[in-house]
Amino acid sequence: MRNELKRIQAKGENSYEILLGRGLLDEVSVALGTAVKKVLLVYPEPLEASAQAIAETLTAAGKSVWQFPVVDGESAKADRWLTIAWSSLGQAEFSRSDAVVSIGGGSTTDLAGFIAATWLRGIKVVHIPTTLLAMVDASIGGKTGINTLEGKNLVGAFHDPTAVIADLDTLETLAKVELGSGFGEIVKCGFIKDPTILDLIEENVSDAIDVRSDRFFELVNRTIQVKVDTVSSDFRESGAREFLNYGHTLGHAIELAEHYKMKHGHAVAIGMCFVAELARSAGRLDDATADRHENILQLIGLPTTYPKGKWPALYTGMQVDKKSRGGLLRFVVLDGLAKPGILEAPTEEVLYSAFLEIAE
Ligand SMILES: NC(=O)c1ccc[n+]([C@@H]2O[C@H](COP(=O)([O-])OP(=O)(O)OC[C@H]3O[C@@H](n4cnc5c(N)ncnc54)[C@H](O)[C@@H]3O)[C@@H](O)[C@H]2O)c1
Repeated sequence: MRNELKRIQAKGENSYEILLGRGLLDEVSVALGTAVKKVLLVYPEPLEASAQAIAETLTAAGKSVWQFPVVDGESAKADRWLTIAWSSLGQAEFSRSDAVVSIGGGSTTDLAGFIAATWLRGIKVVHIPTTLLAMVDASIGGKTGINTLEGKNLVGAFHDPTAVIADLDTLETLAKVELGSGFGEIVKCGFIKDPTILDLIEENVSDAIDVRSDRFFELVNRTIQVKVDTVSSDFRESGAREFLNYGHTLGHAIELAEHYKMKHGHAVAIGMCFVAELARSAGRLDDATADRHENILQLIGLPTTYPKGKWPALYTGMQVDKKSRGGLLRFVVLDGLAKPGILEAPTEEVLYSAFLEIAE
């Protein structure tokens, strides 16, 4: 294992750096800069010990730290936590030159990013993602938000971080199911833009999923690069960024049908197998690339099938996605490896017959 440090440049509304390496937690004060005097440190309760270590680093660098523990998981993405955060920031007299730091998974980076986006119309935020999904996806690209009773991510803002510190050491305590969820997104980036990702996994899967291996480092590095390249060219999601939704239309419907008990990357894995079948049946994707979806996802231990009887719920669930996309059901499909395109408004019959190919 090399102790490599990679600096990846990202550009949205602002330019920022993503630091990828090991043992990087001390970098947080440097990333904030000397002008920041006060920090709201947002983290889920189970990460108390890591948050404490960050707080000590920040204090040693002369910053005043307000620790802000939130409930674990998706429940933190709720207006109640925003209200409490705004009160804390107000009472502590946070100014435009102060900052928010998040340490945690995508639920935490989404909430903390939105707190930072809304306080005084936007202050700095540095993310320290500690799940693989947050590292390769949620912490990058500036999308922040919370859920409402009516649905997920309905309220939010685009707000770029000042920096992202992706410390692979933090992943050593991550549960296998969480690691798998991040791998769903890694494989997705392999199919839509960087097929070397797929080769690296297929060559040696046990090395690929070992968070301490060089191969794992390279997979995270490449996936971050795909996300950065895509969001840098389309910050507000009007073009190429849509390709990051590969596997997500059915994936979101599965998450809804499962009442969010299934992890995001697992639902996306099934969704990718579905769109591979859709593209194959439309004559757009060759058999070898279509089959590669199921093979590689199974190699990693991700799900690739879904119960046949659940189709009506999935079809209804996909209509939610349709509403946010100008009234048309749109699927990101492949016209070949790393050649994403759009399939618009297929009939239910076409969709169902693709679904039968992955149904059990
Ligand atoms: N903004 C975006 O672009 C974007 C992109 C993808 C996903 N998301 C959002 O991300 C969220 C999902 O993120 P997630 O899967 O990271 O979920 P999460 O933040 O709920 O974390 C999952 C679990 O992992 C635990 N955990 C975190 N770090 C750990 C560590 N180092 N060791 C052990 N356990 C650890 C957490 O305590 C939690 O129980 C969703 O809300 C989704 O909407 C946002």
